[in-house]
Amino acid sequence: MPITTAVFDAYGTLFDVNAAAMQAAQDPAHAGLAAVWPALARDWRRKQLEYSWLRAVADQHCDFWKVTQDGLDWALEAHGLADPATRTRLLELYWELSPYPEVPAMLRSLKEHGIAMAILSNGSPDMLQAAVNSAQIGDLLDALLSVENVSVFKPHARVYDMIGAHFGCPKDEVLFVSSNGWDAAGAAGYGFQTTWVNRAGEPVDRLYATPHHVLSDLTTIPELL
Ligand code: LAC
Repeated sequence: MPITTAVFDAYGTLFDVNAAAMQAAQDPAHAGLAAVWPALARDWRRKQLEYSWLRAVADQHCDFWKVTQDGLDWALEAHGLADPATRTRLLELYWELSPYPEVPAMLRSLKEHGIAMAILSNGSPDMLQAAVNSAQIGDLLDALLSVENVSVFKPHARVYDMIGAHFGCPKDEVLFVSSNGWDAAGAAGYGFQTTWVNRAGEPVDRLYATPHHVLSDLTTIPELL
């Protein structure tokens, strides 16, 4: 089937989730981050995602801003960082994460091909709007779809259902793009054509489905049409 609709995960796929810790670590006011920021960023992300999955299976939904803060608090304590100003700065920066450099040109190319485009993310609507505004890519996207509409996190099928509900397109016309192996597996199992952006060269997740394409960044997404 031809692709009519491209759907992107937000955090880690369009926006660099390590950018907040990397940027804060360059500021002498947060000197404690200098030595530990890569590990802190990894633990923050890991806990944020674990909390999202656990809340989904336990039917204990809260918004993604809450699990983002809870994940950071765990990571700060694990790395012995107790400065409240550092916590505040890291959370501020999460609202303006840098997009990966190839993102604007890739989205523009898809738009020129007449492809409908959306973000489908765990992020709350205000987080997604802030990230898109900060990256100046709002005019290229037709919809920002947040799991807050269905009150459960990915990879629950109710989340992926939002695409058909919004665009009215069949599943196999959707190209779903995520850098999260588990999200790509979830979307492939759901029935979307799926691309896993494997920037870190990780092994494929052993789950119930595998992505149709694996790329190392987003540059060649338009070639998949
Ligand atoms: C998102 C998370 C999974 O944007 O990165 O949905």
